[in-house]
Amino acid sequence: MVTTVPPTSPARTDPAQAAKDRLIVALDFPDAAAALSCVDQFAGSVSWFKIGLELFLASGDSVVRELKQRGHSIFLDLKLHDIPNTVNSAIRSLARLEPDLLTVHAAGGRAMLNAAAEAARSLPRPPRLVAVTVLTSVDAAALAETGVSAAPVEQVLRLARLAAECGIEGMVCSPAEAAALRSALPQALLVTPGIRPAGSDAGDQKRIATPQFALAAGASMLVIGRPITAAPDPKAAALAILSDMAKGNPTTK
Ligand code: C5P
Repeated sequence: MVTTVPPTSPARTDPAQAAKDRLIVALDFPDAAAALSCVDQFAGSVSWFKIGLELFLASGDSVVRELKQRGHSIFLDLKLHDIPNTVNSAIRSLARLEPDLLTVHAAGGRAMLNAAAEAARSLPRPPRLVAVTVLTSVDAAALAETGVSAAPVEQVLRLARLAAECGIEGMVCSPAEAAALRSALPQALLVTPGIRPAGSDAGDQKRIATPQFALAAGASMLVIGRPITAAPDPKAAALAILSDMAKGNPTTK
């Protein structure tokens, strides 16, 4: 089943606000103090923050609660991948934090994805579930080593269709697959990491593109970490990206 939610919610007409709604800054920090010190620097120019395993395992609930109290939206990127009963219970357990977006691994398969969707539906304030397809750090050779001989785009499409059939409304993919996914699943929420403004260091990411490429390809929301958080001036880096996103007229290639 494909849900009929808009690609971004709520829809905005003001380009600056629409860009703000679509940028998620990844807070990959070792503890709450480091993460909140980075958040403070944005002085409200960023709405969405992603909390992944590093920060969540270090600071657990406290940083989520603090950011929610400040009015931010939270993408809890825990990439749940376990047997169906465990994933179902984990989502119910996380309900206390009321995350806005929550990731599960599509590779967990149909029964796990159904269990995840069922758990989310049962909650009074359900998170929007997003299925991770093929990690953006994985290239064709690395995928083949895991026994998947399909090209990354084929595997991304296969997993995204499976997740959509199970009632998962969002998918994580690289910008390189966003156009194919947008065409296959027009109503899906497409979240793309692997974003690198021109001249940025790729780091461990393999399937990368600029913010403008990702938006033009049909991405709903962009996840950006180090190009912003490791910049000499994170706020300036975020504002430059937001400005490009709003203009639709990139300084990026
Ligand atoms: O620093 P960078 O921009 O590479 O950060 C990307 C973020 O997105 C990281 O927190 C990473 O865990 C996350 N992510 C990813 N690829 C996926 C899913 C999530 O890079 N497929």
